[in-house]
Amino acid sequence: MGGMRTVVRAARPEDAPALGLLMVESWLAAHREQIPDTAWQARAAEWTPEASAHGWAALIADIAATDVPADVLLVAEDDSGAVVGLVHGVVRGVGDGPPAGEISSLYVAHDQHRRGVGTSLLKAAAQALRDLDAVGLRLSVLTANLPARAFYEARGGQQVGPGTTDEDGHLLPTTLYAWSDGSLLGGD
Ligand SMILES: CC(C)(COP(=O)(O)OP(=O)(O)OC[C@H]1O[C@@H](n2cnc3c(N)ncnc32)[C@H](O)[C@@H]1OP(=O)(O)O)[C@@H](O)C(=O)NCCC(=O)NCCS
Repeated sequence: MGGMRTVVRAARPEDAPALGLLMVESWLAAHREQIPDTAWQARAAEWTPEASAHGWAALIADIAATDVPADVLLVAEDDSGAVVGLVHGVVRGVGDGPPAGEISSLYVAHDQHRRGVGTSLLKAAAQALRDLDAVGLRLSVLTANLPARAFYEARGGQQVGPGTTDEDGHLLPTTLYAWSDGSLLGGD
């Protein structure tokens, strides 16, 4: 764990600028080799930390204004209080059945990988989604994102099928992972 203590907590309005920076920097770094270059270049040219921060600020305000929110936004901070990771979870309605917990974003600062931050965020999001009555946990990841897939598999995620995602007009293959209720929280 590198001797570093990580605290996971709910995002606050003042986190928005740091979340925008973290999201844009780590997204561009993580997916550079995983998506077509034209799609990557389009993101790099058009997507700013300020625009991303604006979206996070709106989400944080929305969560604060809702009695039973459908979103969970948590941050990891290091001992100095710097934001080093984020996770966005959603309670997703599924037909007539109970709502499912879904991870829509999980990003850890590049220089903080492999220190357990991602695991702490994933587990905290699973717990927070369960507290909102979501059943089970699932997510979709680019099939080309081998490091993230290794991470989800190390955390016990089961491959439940293929999917696709549209990135700037490119239909990219995704892999769906799922955890049954409690299987993530019960683990190490
Ligand atoms: C995927 C990600 C969230 C993992 O976070 P992390 O803090 O590095 O993960 P942890 O330290 O908790 O890793 C736990 C275990 O997962 C596995 N794992 C994590 N990263 C891995 C990698 N790059 N390659 C292989 N296995 C990996 C290992 O088993 C690891 O345990 P170990 O370090 O003791 O071997 C992080 O790498 C990240 O932010 N990547 C870029 C963004 C991204 O792709 N996000 C997911 C798509 S939305």
